[in-house]
Amino acid sequence: MAKTKSIHGEWSSRFAYILAATGSAVGLGNIWKFPYITGENGGGAFVLVYLGCVLAIGIPIMIAETLMGRRGRQSPINTLRDLSAEAGVSPHWQYLGWMGVVAGVLILSYYSVIAGWAIAYVFKAFFGGFSADAAIVKSSFDNLVASPGQLIFWHSVFMVATISVVMRGVKGGLEKAVLLLMPALLALLFLLVAYAMTTGEYYFQGLSFLFSPDFSEIDSDAVLTAMGHAFFTLGLGMGAIMVYGSYMPKGISIVKTSLYIAGADTIVALLAGIAIFPLVFANGLEPGSGPGLIFQTLPIAFGNMTGGWLFGVLFFVLLVFAALTSSISLVEPIVAWLVENKGVSRAKASVISGGAIWALGVSVALSFNSWSDVKIFDKTIFNFLDYLTANLMLPIGGFCIAVFAGWLMHQKDVRNELNLPDQQYEIWKFLVSYIAPAAVFIVFLHVLGLF
Ligand code: PHE
Repeated sequence: MAKTKSIHGEWSSRFAYILAATGSAVGLGNIWKFPYITGENGGGAFVLVYLGCVLAIGIPIMIAETLMGRRGRQSPINTLRDLSAEAGVSPHWQYLGWMGVVAGVLILSYYSVIAGWAIAYVFKAFFGGFSADAAIVKSSFDNLVASPGQLIFWHSVFMVATISVVMRGVKGGLEKAVLLLMPALLALLFLLVAYAMTTGEYYFQGLSFLFSPDFSEIDSDAVLTAMGHAFFTLGLGMGAIMVYGSYMPKGISIVKTSLYIAGADTIVALLAGIAIFPLVFANGLEPGSGPGLIFQTLPIAFGNMTGGWLFGVLFFVLLVFAALTSSISLVEPIVAWLVENKGVSRAKASVISGGAIWALGVSVALSFNSWSDVKIFDKTIFNFLDYLTANLMLPIGGFCIAVFAGWLMHQKDVRNELNLPDQQYEIWKFLVSYIAPAAVFIVFLHVLGLF
């Protein structure tokens, strides 16, 4: 039988849930990762595939993952154990929860290093380190990334911040922070878009890069990256939204809230792209210059604006907060599990998991400099972890979630959670049982060269 309450507490309202889940979705994925992978993969066609994946795969799976969480009301591992008993299927499904926990730990280990760059940029902006000259901006970024000490320091700052929020639990602080943060972040993005418009022809070049698809630009690996990013940016496939769903009061519409969250997430990513690509072209930079893209472009905009240092500080502060509201959702599954199964306090659980993630993150920080020659499957530690999690683990996790909700759970239980009119239910059911799993499967076959 479905539990009615989680032992970890509940969101105080529907709005609070939307804020928290949007906080999980909107993060570095939208502002840092989306532009640079779009740049690396040729622009428009990649964007179109990504948007298609959000619609046809992401949203249906987000609904599935949330409803499973709300029905199980525990950490993803225990939720899957209970839901598999309820559905009368193998208890081995709880390994799906385990895979999610591992994915969360791996993702946060590099996420935190990049969030550390953003913290460093708050200070750079404040001390007048931004310049209108693209070459100066680039060398300042290169210097930061070349310094193991600085990267480890800022990564540590970010991990400490994450742990201290998670320790306080799902409601304390978090809800309020997001309430302020989201509108402010949007306002600053609009400011950057307005700045991008002043670049004249380059603004249109940026728009056309983003929105006029040229399919000869993409191959199966680009399609995999676009699909993986749909999971990453929505925070799907590893239990983050499942655990947030488990704190969702009954009576709130899972479908509507999922649509809002996915909509907000997509808008933020597109705005970031619109702000950044005109600057890339106006300054003769390479769209495919990689993970440093926003750090090499946005400071130019701030360097050019009057009062740019202040907007720069604000922007990077907001980016750090956006990263923080995502990072806490990445550790929450393991923290909830430690509390449930190991009987430790929330504080202790947060410190243990945070410590392990921090240690792993140190190797990621080094992979940008001293350890840049260390390769796993031909990739640096950072690139390997990114590929493994976003392109493989999240889509596999999402595939299993779709199969579980679409094929294994009793339909009356699913209907009871979703509470939808018949026709809408049938549409979702079709997407989650057939379209989403088939799409993931076909993309994998394609990458393996089997299709
Ligand atoms: N969605 C977050 C972002 O775009 C990252 C994330 C991934 C959060 C997976 C939770 C789970 O930055």
